[in-house]
Amino acid sequence: MENNKKNYYGNISSLVYNQSKPPGTSIDGDIEFYTNELIKREGLVLEAGVGNGRIAIPLLRKGISIFGLDNSKEMLTIYKGNLKKYNMESQLILGDLINFKADIKFETIIMPNGSFCLLNRDDIVYVLNNFKNHLTDNGKIYLDLIYPTSFKPGNIHEYDFVLDNNDIIKIKNKAISIDWALQRTYTELEYKSNSEIEIQPFSLWWYGVEEFKLILEKLKFKNIETIKNYNNIKNLNLKTVTFIFEK
Ligand SMILES: C[S@@+](CC[C@H](N)C(=O)[O-])C[C@H]1O[C@@H](n2cnc3c(N)ncnc32)[C@H](O)[C@@H]1O
Repeated sequence: MENNKKNYYGNISSLVYNQSKPPGTSIDGDIEFYTNELIKREGLVLEAGVGNGRIAIPLLRKGISIFGLDNSKEMLTIYKGNLKKYNMESQLILGDLINFKADIKFETIIMPNGSFCLLNRDDIVYVLNNFKNHLTDNGKIYLDLIYPTSFKPGNIHEYDFVLDNNDIIKIKNKAISIDWALQRTYTELEYKSNSEIEIQPFSLWWYGVEEFKLILEKLKFKNIETIKNYNNIKNLNLKTVTFIFEK
């Protein structure tokens, strides 16, 4: 069943992510938004699902202290390589958001763009409670929700992706289904190199804005604010909602 297949960034999908979205690639203005917000705040920032450091590295370069967490060792290996390449230092841990334990509390926790939507709906309460346990008393959480406005079930997109070493990866991106009751889209990505095939199951869950506020209120989060499309008023379609809240 699609529902049981776990989202995971393996070897090839992490390589392709890094090459198509290297550190500094802004998606819809997310890097500018997070830089503006975090530059005003003190203390340590946890980026939940740090990936290759697309956002973390530009933030580190602005002097913001980022602590990276990810459950993909392949992604973290790429992040470490990028830190070296950009001459930056950052603490990082391999762990799952549901049950990671760090001896530190964070002033800010961020989960930009679509990462939160990768979490299985059944897990989000555990993740949000774990965030709460790792937040300082005056801490803030920034979490983006994205909406599948252009998802077309049945669409198949096939293309060749050339890696830096000139290896060709054949990618097949299959938009399989949209489940309106579960609020989930399911995509399957196939990456084929000369020596390896990786199948990446890719589910994204979405939440209504009022629905998500109710979830946060039920967990006793306070001062809940929302921002649409990173404050970009030129973007008429709603694609991203950032929730900002405190414990
Ligand atoms: C779409 S990438 C985003 C990476 C980076 N934050 C960015 O904005 O470019 C999502 C990342 O979240 C990580 N991730 C997904 N679920 C996770 C979980 N349950 N625990 C820890 N990391 C997770 C993935 O491994 C992946 O690196």
